[in-house]
Amino acid sequence: MATRHFLTLLDFSPDELHDLIQRAIAIKNRMQTQGPSYTPLANRTLAMIFEKSSTRTRVSFETAMAQFGGHALFLSPRDTQLGRGEPIEDTARVLSEMVDAVMIRTFSHTGLETYAAASGVPVINALTDDYHPCQLLADVMTWTELRGSIKRRTAVWIGDGNNMCHSWINAARQFDFQLRICCPKGYEPRRDILEAAGDRVVLIHDPSQAVIDADLVTTDVWASMGQEEEKARRETDFAGFQVTESMLDTARRDVLFLHCLPAHRGEEISETLLDDPRAVVWQEAGNRLHAQKALIEFLLLGHVEA
Ligand code: CP
Ligand code: NVA
Repeated sequence: MATRHFLTLLDFSPDELHDLIQRAIAIKNRMQTQGPSYTPLANRTLAMIFEKSSTRTRVSFETAMAQFGGHALFLSPRDTQLGRGEPIEDTARVLSEMVDAVMIRTFSHTGLETYAAASGVPVINALTDDYHPCQLLADVMTWTELRGSIKRRTAVWIGDGNNMCHSWINAARQFDFQLRICCPKGYEPRRDILEAAGDRVVLIHDPSQAVIDADLVTTDVWASMGQEEEKARRETDFAGFQVTESMLDTARRDVLFLHCLPAHRGEEISETLLDDPRAVVWQEAGNRLHAQKALIEFLLLGHVEA
């Protein structure tokens, strides 16, 4: 059977994603009642290639492997041959001989696909310029824990049409919810990704209208990793797109606010938004650990313990 990878949410079927979220919740509950007693990956290794910075993704994958009885290796281009020009396909073939799975955070999504095509072991997208699917597993898990099924709910994305936005669009397709995207003109998501979602996703440009009656509101930084030089121009272009408590007041009373983090208070969110009880970002961040455990278990074992 062909090696399964997780490069975008579209690599898994809606049923597989549904089961993965339920499994992540079960793994979390077991962890909280019994501690890290479930160790299905003894002596297994996950290579983690990071070409961009990370706090949550690195710590959650490394901790997941440790708690599962396995091991994670942190690899950066600075101290591997990747940084000295060894072809990524050669690296993929070599790592396939030694490790059980590979997690990659990089710039080019095409580069990630090239790596995966040459890999004999599962490859996980830990963020590219185009997608961040692991974050969406934690986000949907958080919603599901707190509010039940996300099916037919209305989520609102405010901000840049970036990698996170693209993964929210794919999530709307796979988990069957409505998504409103509210971004400044010129910062829309990629047209092909948007169009593939059909009428599940709508684009609007007025932040004062976007959040009305929403179930879930989310945003992300205005300048992503690799866009540092555009920061000042983006701060001007995104004026008026800051998510505030009063904006959330126009949503449903039980609205939840999510943010993948890191957050920039005073930019995409108000100084105090993360202190608002509607913001559940710490639970969301913690769920990276549990959601990725379910992902690794699925990719490496192909089945789950009852
Ligand atoms: N949300 C997220 O992926 O965080 P890190 O960049 O810290 O990994
Ligand atoms: N859009 C952000 C997400 C960080 C987790 C970035 O790519 O930098």
